[in-house]
Amino acid sequence: MKTLLKIDDLYAGVANKEILKGINLEIKPSEIHVIMGPNGTGKSTLSSVIMGDPNYTVNKGKITYEDKDLLKMKVDERARAGIFLAMQYPSELSGVTNFDFLKTAIDAKKVQEHIKTLEFNNLLNKMTQKLKMKDDYINRFVNVGFSGGEKKKNEILQMLLLKPKLVILDEIDSGLDIDAIK
Ligand SMILES: Nc1ncnc2c1ncn2[C@@H]1O[C@H](COP(=O)(O)OP(=O)(O)OP(=O)(O)O)[C@@H](O)[C@H]1O
Ligand SMILES: [Mg+2]
Repeated sequence: MKTLLKIDDLYAGVANKEILKGINLEIKPSEIHVIMGPNGTGKSTLSSVIMGDPNYTVNKGKITYEDKDLLKMKVDERARAGIFLAMQYPSELSGVTNFDFLKTAIDAKKVQEHIKTLEFNNLLNKMTQKLKMKDDYINRFVNVGFSGGEKKKNEILQMLLLKPKLVILDEIDSGLDIDAIK
């Protein structure tokens, strides 16, 4: 099977600190990889580098995604190409409702051509029910005042709507109760 993501001898870090030192990883479609390691070893750093977080610099190595040079792609290009990161610490966006955020994201990614507001509402309702999220989550500001577990569910809601090809779940289980983990 073709390779989806390939990381070769990756060295990356912040300003003057190298965090990742020679990472190699190959992921093929439908594969699940689990990366485990003690706190502070660079798991979230690797996720951020794959997604293109500008706070991290790549000093050496290569990342190929669907035969493209991933490191040359901007963050939004990576997202449009189907990479999705569920963050360990999801950000709060005060003033932006979950509805507007999600609708704008799926319109930008063109998951579906011209989804109408009503149609989108129905889709959202279906998904929030599936995730056992309360109705008011949709009209609240993104993650503002959400509990730890609710923020994680909100990441999964984004994932379901955006239909990514490569999903990175950074400690998605932390903060979730037993039912939500399922
Ligand atoms: N901007 C930064 N400035 C200085 N150090 C940083 C910065 N970002 C990350 N680090 C350091 O890089 C190391 C790796 O951090 P990272 O968050 O990737 O670890 P992790 O494996 O995800 O840990 P955890 O299991 O706790 O989530 C840590 O020692 C962290 O303090
Ligand atoms: Mg981490």
